[in-house]
Amino acid sequence: MPITVSAMTDGFAAEVGDIDLTRPLDAQTEREVRDAFTQYAVLIFPEQTLTVEQHLAFARLFGPHERTVAAVMPGQKLRVREEIADIANMTPNGEVWGKDYRLRLFQLGNRLWHTDSSFKQPTGFTSMLYCRSVAPIGGHTEFADLRAAFDALPAELKAQVDCLIGEHSLLYSRRKLGFTDFSEQERAAWAPVARPLVRTIAQSGRRSLYLASHIGRIRGMEDAQADALLAQLMAHATERRFTYLHRWRVRDLVLWDNRCTMHRGTAFDDTRWPRDMQRATTSDQPDVFEAELRAAGLAA
Ligand SMILES: [Fe+2]
Repeated sequence: MPITVSAMTDGFAAEVGDIDLTRPLDAQTEREVRDAFTQYAVLIFPEQTLTVEQHLAFARLFGPHERTVAAVMPGQKLRVREEIADIANMTPNGEVWGKDYRLRLFQLGNRLWHTDSSFKQPTGFTSMLYCRSVAPIGGHTEFADLRAAFDALPAELKAQVDCLIGEHSLLYSRRKLGFTDFSEQERAAWAPVARPLVRTIAQSGRRSLYLASHIGRIRGMEDAQADALLAQLMAHATERRFTYLHRWRVRDLVLWDNRCTMHRGTAFDDTRWPRDMQRATTSDQPDVFEAELRAAGLAA
């Protein structure tokens, strides 16, 4: 039986039914999921009752598992295994964290528009966020379609951004919230990396902005000018016409393409309501940017 794909927005987010992610997918089903992923970029799989192992097994179809950034934080104990990014507002003991808990201050950065692991080498390819419990109010996730946003740019701006290189770092996005208390180990692990501002998605050939709050500088551009351009692009890319708001239900698994989307968590009372969300993220090919340039005939 083929999967059922039901569009939530025009060409960006879709729900997927008639699929059971607790079991290995047969070749035909996997192909249908990949086709839907290429077409939409955000896929919602409702009513999946997954163990951590099943969650990771599905993720493995899209590449090697990443380690959570929390694994490089000195002294930070993990509540879940290191292949899972723990998006819950909980301590390792499973209690709701307090106002000054360090990881909380760090994770407030998830409320800024970003794409996962653009600051890593290799970069993040897909993320799969699984909902184990929800807050009664707030705590949604918004997604932005950076392919559609690129398509809608004026031709002049397209040409301008197409040759620009952004510098991404987790340090930059956290600094935007006033968090600068980084250890030497963290500063070394998250040194800025260079990424093009525009990508070409291999499977579809579509061009896409590659934006995130992790971008702190643009190569060869004065900081003030770069900040203004990035603010303009961010405002454009997150216009309502390019976004989808996901209101979580327990047992939703949402898969997205980090190459051509941004997302952000919406606010909720995270010192009151437990919200248990766990993310598996897969790494892209280490040479993906060179491959994209070659495919677009732009390689040096
Ligand atoms: Fe994220």
